[in-house]
Amino acid sequence: MDRFVIEGGAELRGEVEVSGAKNAALPILAATILADGECRLEGIPRLRDLTTMLKILETLGVEAGWQDDGSLLTRVVDPSLTRAPYELVKTMRASICVLGPLLGRRGRAEVSFPGGCVIGPRPVDLHLAGLEALGARIRVEGGYIEAERRAGGGLGRGDREIYLGGPFGPTVTGTANVLSAAVLTPGTTVIQSAACEPEVIDLASFLRAMGADIHGIGSPTLTVRGVERLVGGTWRVIPDRIEAGTLLCAAAVTRGDVTVGNVEPSHLTAPLALLARMGIPVRRRGERALHVAGGERPRPVDVVTLPYPGFPTDLQAQFMAVLSVAAGNSFVTEKIYPERFIHVPELQRMGARIRKEGPTAIVEGVERLSGCPVMASDLRASAALVVAGLAARGTTTVERVYHIDRGYERIEEKLAALGARIERRAG
Ligand code: EPU
Repeated sequence: MDRFVIEGGAELRGEVEVSGAKNAALPILAATILADGECRLEGIPRLRDLTTMLKILETLGVEAGWQDDGSLLTRVVDPSLTRAPYELVKTMRASICVLGPLLGRRGRAEVSFPGGCVIGPRPVDLHLAGLEALGARIRVEGGYIEAERRAGGGLGRGDREIYLGGPFGPTVTGTANVLSAAVLTPGTTVIQSAACEPEVIDLASFLRAMGADIHGIGSPTLTVRGVERLVGGTWRVIPDRIEAGTLLCAAAVTRGDVTVGNVEPSHLTAPLALLARMGIPVRRRGERALHVAGGERPRPVDVVTLPYPGFPTDLQAQFMAVLSVAAGNSFVTEKIYPERFIHVPELQRMGARIRKEGPTAIVEGVERLSGCPVMASDLRASAALVVAGLAARGTTTVERVYHIDRGYERIEEKLAALGARIERRAG
């Protein structure tokens, strides 16, 4: 298993480009199941999770091939296949994204029930209730979610309203699933409390580009009029706002001077406001780049994770790494996944002073962290350990970086090009 060896203390300097968004690319790729024609997707990041999704699509009769220009061409070659097997689904929860497209286009889906997750309970009850409200019959059998059109007709008859709000807000991939099934369902579907994340907007816009009739994109109410078929199309996936936020944290924690390119600043309003409150100014450079120049020790802040446009849970760990060297006490409250604090014990090993009280971590900033061996245990937690290692005194070894490879494209190469002393070592 690969690990990263990081010699902390180097200020990051220079320019870096963000890749396409993993969490937009996954449901968009799944939605190619719906297309009658070819789809050309641009900006798909080369990540482990995307490779998993391509394998799942292959088992579902979708052919995909990388082109010389870096785009990905997909085509349905066998629409009779409907089973997403345990062996693949168990390695990636987002495999659930094929459920809606399979049901919508092929009338049937068997998707292995996603298992446990280190960031806390991640039920799919809202996905299933939403698809049932659309007219599907659903049962769980032998570890698989089996969904099919009710006998004697297509999905749903007449119009319907589906509420997707849960105890922690709307569901992102649940919205993707219900929307992807609804676009080919006769009648009008109104989805209430739809997630408004930029990744959901990207999926909805892609579906519309293929011929779907969707109104209210970007709002909590999506109105979908079922169409008979979707043709293929060309689509460029949005830049990854979480990678952008992670790179800004890496620049800020080393008090460097970095321009982060290929960003959509409007997707980063909450993280940028927080950085401003931390005394870390980030300025726009043209339409699609952000420039951060540190210098000061970060100021402490209170932050609460919330559904978009609130502060994203996927940046909570990375910001906590920065706040662990702030000049004072910060309160970090997790409202999406109240148990998403697996990075805390590892940051503590590096000398961070963090106390947990329920869904809140109280972070008492220390002058400097000190490098040591730490263990990556999930994607964003490992990103936080890399951020911490860049600022720490001495050597930090991050074990099990396959977690980080799930969601960051060549992160060590991008950081090294900015002057970070980081190396990947095998075994
Ligand atoms: N929830 C339910 N029932 C459901 C679904 C969700 O109660 O049926 C709860 C969850 O337990 C959680 C909240 O609702 O408390 C929000 O979960 P959501 O369904 O929105 O999460 P997700 O769609 O499974 C996506 C991202 C996650 C990101 C969350 C929140 C993808 C592939 N994954 O997950 O990304 O943390 O939204 O923004 O889009 C990551 O990239 O590291 C990652 C975990």
